[in-house]
Amino acid sequence: MSSQPANSSAADPVAAKGTLPEQQVQAMFDRIAKRYDLMNTVMTAGLHDEWRVRAADVADVGPGSHVLDVATGTGDLAIELAKRVAPGGSVTGVDFAEEMLAVARTKQTSVLAGVDAEVVFEQGNALDLKYDDDMFDAVTVGFGVRNFSDLAAGLTEMARVVRPGGKFVILEISQPQKPPLSYFYKAWFDGLVPFIGKFAGEDSAYTYLPNSVKRFARPSELAGVLADAGTTNVRWIALAGGIVTIHHGTVV
Ligand SMILES: C[S@@+](CC[C@H](N)C(=O)[O-])C[C@H]1O[C@@H](n2cnc3c(N)ncnc32)[C@H](O)[C@@H]1O
Repeated sequence: MSSQPANSSAADPVAAKGTLPEQQVQAMFDRIAKRYDLMNTVMTAGLHDEWRVRAADVADVGPGSHVLDVATGTGDLAIELAKRVAPGGSVTGVDFAEEMLAVARTKQTSVLAGVDAEVVFEQGNALDLKYDDDMFDAVTVGFGVRNFSDLAAGLTEMARVVRPGGKFVILEISQPQKPPLSYFYKAWFDGLVPFIGKFAGEDSAYTYLPNSVKRFARPSELAGVLADAGTTNVRWIALAGGIVTIHHGTVV
């Protein structure tokens, strides 16, 4: 375990590498939970909601479906899915950061009033899910896999709990490769995001964010890991010129 204090500064060498031990990832999200949604809106100019709508489209679920949203955080993707599985379906949102889940539960009460779907937010680790094999019709994860301490183990565990033929959907930040968007992205992610983070009193978390994207698997590599985890027909869709990517596959 690193001896870095939980709210260490942008000079934090671990955050600067874009990898953090699991306990530090959990502590970081617990710390930023109350500011997380606002920061997302500011950093993406409000586009993040639309990206989750697209991910939910790809999950291809309908009334009566049972879905697991892993690394659910403040629950926005789970809530989007809940609207689609009603009536009669369910969405389980799992995350290891209890403070993020507390925000999700608050939204559940306000946003999902009158939606006839069972929605539960519960604490758990993506790498060791407590659910039975083949329990869900689909599994989703939004902006979470980049933080897994073991990507292959996490995806394999997620595939395990989905029935054969069910959908596996990953929404994740990626790096546009072509100019001019690649230049804009670099200025935005390397300059603006840490600046906004500093302004919000969270320079460590928002230094970690761009660096974790840089060291993360490219779309073709992630597709390979997803296939190896037990899915077939793996495809990916680049959104916003490649700033985010949706990977999807069918569980075998
Ligand atoms: C960037 S947030 C994404 C939250 C949400 N899915 C969204 O779309 O905004 C990443 C979330 O992943 C969670 N997380 C990271 N690794 C995890 C793991 N191994 N098990 C459970 N949750 C994890 C964090 O606690 C955090 O809430």
